[in-house]
Amino acid sequence: MSHDAAPNLDFAGTTPYEDYVQADVLTHLQHPLSEDPGEMVFLVTTQVMELWFTVLVHEWETASRALREDRVPVALDALARSARELEALNASWKPLGQLTPAQFNAYRGALGEGSGFQSAMYRRMEFLLGEKSASMLVPHRGAPRVHAELEKALQEPSLYDEVLRLLARRGLPVPEEVLVRDLSLKYEPSEAVEAVWAGVYRSADQSSELVRLGEALTDVGELVWRWRNDHLVATRRAMGAKAGTGGSAGVTWLEKRARKNVFPELWTARSHV
Ligand code: HEM
Repeated sequence: MSHDAAPNLDFAGTTPYEDYVQADVLTHLQHPLSEDPGEMVFLVTTQVMELWFTVLVHEWETASRALREDRVPVALDALARSARELEALNASWKPLGQLTPAQFNAYRGALGEGSGFQSAMYRRMEFLLGEKSASMLVPHRGAPRVHAELEKALQEPSLYDEVLRLLARRGLPVPEEVLVRDLSLKYEPSEAVEAVWAGVYRSADQSSELVRLGEALTDVGELVWRWRNDHLVATRRAMGAKAGTGGSAGVTWLEKRARKNVFPELWTARSHV
């Protein structure tokens, strides 16, 4: 083939690109509900975020499986990828971050009761991070596949459960009640686990596998916290203190959710190192 060979133009059916990417499907899934030209970017940003949620769930499931099999480097790679993906997810707030209330109102009414609160993939992420909640399945009763996936994720160990089991296998004193906890309930912070992390972080070897694991999880926790706070500030700008389309009190409800940190002991242990 010569240097200046042009790309192939001749395909019998659809292009191999199309067969792989399904761009034709993906770029025809945009059905705005209003006439407002600003609605398109709201819809596409939401769809883009759903795709990133899907990637993040994939990475954290990969990391969970690797931890279960004691393959920590594989888990570290997946967590490092997920941190960069979270940065890309968070950067996608840019087009929506400065909406004025009038701009948002131009299509807000068309959303009816629709709200990101009803995102099943976001709940899968939260479940993997340890924030289990059976009541978050209720909105999805009418969608069998989504409901089944969420139910499975509710019952399975979270990424953090797998981390704590690994720490226990490494001989660290993770209490039995944490290891045999009811996996379908929200993870509650434990002082003994906080002491375990403080011990890990006191280690002379700051590049040990467990310190690196702690830091990879902390990166994820920080970026999840940033997503929640960017969402909160975007909401404050776009709608002030109005009630949400999903029926919550809006900003005050989101403030409460955004105050929390995932992997709680990784944050509190730092005071004891
Ligand atoms: C400026 C645009 C946005 C505003 C004003 C806004 C507003 C809100 C409000 C008020 C809530 C609370 C629930 C409710 O009553 O509706 C909420 C929840 C939520 N929104 Fe948004 N939102 C915006 C954009 C987005 C986007 C682009 C996504 C991406 C998927 C998203 C995902 C979520 C999620 C996952 C929740 C549930 C949070 C939780 O359970 O802690 N939001 N949003």
